[in-house]
Amino acid sequence: MNILKFHSDEDFVQTGANLIASLLQSNPKAVLGLATGSSPVGVYAKLVEMHQKGLVSFSKATSFNLDEYIGLPVDHPQSYRSFMNEQLFNHIDIDSGQTHIPNGNAADMEAECLAYDKMLEENGPVDLQILGIGSNGHIGFNEPDANLSSKTHVVDLLEDTREANARFFDSLDEVPRQAITMGIGGILKARQILLLVRGAGKAEAIRNAVEGPITTQCPASLLQSHPNVIVLVDEGAGKWL
Ligand code: GLP
Repeated sequence: MNILKFHSDEDFVQTGANLIASLLQSNPKAVLGLATGSSPVGVYAKLVEMHQKGLVSFSKATSFNLDEYIGLPVDHPQSYRSFMNEQLFNHIDIDSGQTHIPNGNAADMEAECLAYDKMLEENGPVDLQILGIGSNGHIGFNEPDANLSSKTHVVDLLEDTREANARFFDSLDEVPRQAITMGIGGILKARQILLLVRGAGKAEAIRNAVEGPITTQCPASLLQSHPNVIVLVDEGAGKWL
């Protein structure tokens, strides 16, 4: 793992955005794995800025998001489709037909999981997978557990995850109880992984992920088995590294 620690927020987001932009410059048809959550927001904003300056185009790119809540209307402000539209897709030249997010409202979720993996298989591998980390060490919505799923699957969200994400909703009650997420196997298939970690609240999770044992109790620790992972941490998140 290549761990880069930043003292300046500007350098953090510029480094993340440059990695994505240079991939697209060398391979305009790149397949991007995208994440939601607050961690990638600055990087997405920087990419929008670079796009507006004519420095990067997404017109031939394809994207796959990691996860989506189950049961939230797709146009709900907290759906991950709304998040991606607002933070990135609405401001760049990506073909909306090439942006994929699991459907959290599918009538048959099992079929949706299989269909998502099939699409990934047909379009993949993902060239660059962006990830955040939950304070419990989750990636995507792969929660700590005795066993982890390799494939896209439906997950019951842990209470601490629901509580962490409640800040985006009016109340804890409104936070969905389930999500659909790419599995660890799907995530690890990416050629390169860019893990973005910000804030002191993530210091323990990232230390466990990069220095602790590889264990399903810290799903992000499985990234240690991937040959090409870049981790960007800010001062808070990196204080114990
Ligand atoms: C969310 C998402 C993850 C994200 C993580 C951290 O629940 N499902 O993909 O990486 O939790 O979120 P944040 O960056 O807001 O701390």
